[in-house]
Amino acid sequence: MIRLDKFLSEMSGWTRSEVKKIVRTGSVTVDGNEVKKPETKIDEKLSIVSVDGRQIKYNKYEYYMLNKPKGFVSATTDRENKTVVDIISSSEKKDLFPVGRLDIDTEGLLLITNDGELAHRLLAPKNHVEKTYYVEVSGILDDVDVEKGLDIGEEKNTIPAKMEILKTDIQNNISSCYLTIHEGKFHQVKRMMKKLGKTVTYLKRVSMGSLILDSKLKKGNYRKL
Ligand code: URA
Repeated sequence: MIRLDKFLSEMSGWTRSEVKKIVRTGSVTVDGNEVKKPETKIDEKLSIVSVDGRQIKYNKYEYYMLNKPKGFVSATTDRENKTVVDIISSSEKKDLFPVGRLDIDTEGLLLITNDGELAHRLLAPKNHVEKTYYVEVSGILDDVDVEKGLDIGEEKNTIPAKMEILKTDIQNNISSCYLTIHEGKFHQVKRMMKKLGKTVTYLKRVSMGSLILDSKLKKGNYRKL
């Protein structure tokens, strides 16, 4: 059982106070009966809740695409820094978590959900889900070694990655590329670049599997999927 206003704000994205106003106007029915009290308890799985005649279905899971800004940790709680979950302010769900980790200084695509099964599928090493990063480094890039796999100090070399060099600026000794990897080892992109003698100066994830960062999503913004 769950309060009607909680149910509606979780399922619709309206804030609790917006929901309360809507309920009080008499636009909401539960099992066909008008309900004007936001605190009314309903069975979220069985009750048929409608707003202006349109049924609002129960959905246990939420999915958010976040354009992670720098300065936030990819965790659910942290003593020192704000977390990526803190950014999802419109959700009432208490069990949201990030699917995988981006370093505190990395930006870009992060999926935030409470769907553990999906997260497991996306993160399982055997599934080799492709992740593409936009990378800026100091140094001049050359893609040959990346495609062969690199020894970054793990038991096995990294599995072949794909690098698309975007810019090499010999005068300023800087380069940029898209790097696509199929694993998610700790600091993997930075360690791969280090192995190539380069230092990452900017890192942003642009895709994960079939999910591509929405180019209209500003840094620090998110949208429900
Ligand atoms: N590789 C890194 O080095 N850092 C990230 O945040 C993600 C991939």
